[in-house]
Amino acid sequence: MLAPMQGLSNRELRSLFIDWVRPDVVFSEFIRVAGGKRRTLRPALLQDVAPHQGGVPLVAQLIGRQSELLAEAARALQDAGVRHINLNLGCPFGRTTSSAIGGELLRQPQQIPPLLDALRRVVTGSLSVKLRAGYDRPQQLFALLPLLEAAGVDFLILHPRTVIQHYRGSADHNITTEAVQRTSLPIIANGDITTAVQGRQLLSTSKAAGLMLGRGALADPLLFSRLRDQAPAVPTHEELKKILGQLLGELLPRYRKRYCGQAQVLAKLRSLLPYLQAASGERILDQMKSAKTLDAFETQLRCLEKS
Ligand SMILES: Cc1cc2nc3c(=O)[nH]c(=O)nc-3n(C[C@H](O)[C@H](O)[C@H](O)COP(=O)(O)O)c2cc1C
Repeated sequence: MLAPMQGLSNRELRSLFIDWVRPDVVFSEFIRVAGGKRRTLRPALLQDVAPHQGGVPLVAQLIGRQSELLAEAARALQDAGVRHINLNLGCPFGRTTSSAIGGELLRQPQQIPPLLDALRRVVTGSLSVKLRAGYDRPQQLFALLPLLEAAGVDFLILHPRTVIQHYRGSADHNITTEAVQRTSLPIIANGDITTAVQGRQLLSTSKAAGLMLGRGALADPLLFSRLRDQAPAVPTHEELKKILGQLLGELLPRYRKRYCGQAQVLAKLRSLLPYLQAASGERILDQMKSAKTLDAFETQLRCLEKS
């Protein structure tokens, strides 16, 4: 599965992944569900989550804390063609002055069942939960599992860090293995999967039902193919460089079509660069990061493609 990544995994990026490496499932960025002015889902958002070509299932992810509003949003999404809904219980940036959402809800587990009950009554496709292992202790997960089973959730995606850990340290997949043993719910393992060898090993030791790839897939989209034995397990530096050029080169025209104005297209492309650079160490990505215009960015991209 391709992970939800706010600001990055928009329709264009997901479509590119589908055309290129066809993940089995793709996720939308989280959709914030709140009352007041933000109550109605914007037309642009409904367009973003329209079914993808080629039948790859899309899961729309909701983040919020009010049962009725979540159910209402799920209904509106289903009316727009969405079949699968996920509740975000993992985002570490969920604290606002008045509310706790995302990973913050793991501090108040008693608030979770009513949200899931309300969604389960409405959602006709799969209902899943994406969660961290706990708020400040990874063992919190184990107390949550019976509650998630009772709520009729279909599967879980586990990113085994705590919420307060943010992205520090590493994902502790011993917790994934233990969770698989302690629940009948299928668990999709997520977190720090960057190579095919590591992904396969995680599947075999944890007995997880599948893998979800986030940053590792941005840095190397062919990681999906490598895991399926459809591409070499380890890319060469040259191959990786070519892949990065291809990723940005294919996204550029798609973003031009979708976003208004060069500044927005440039900002969208630049937001990917830190994830690409971590893997490739390409210096030219530094220059692309500081490109002030889309033309300058394109010139650097041509250099990357030729180098
Ligand atoms: C830029 C960024 C945005 C993210 N946005 C979301 C999101 O909208 N919903 C969510 O559940 N997780 C989100 N995540 C977490 C990822 O889905 C994933 O759980 C996490 O990055 C660990 O997986 P990875 O090591 O494969 O990246 C985000 C991560 C990143 C890096």
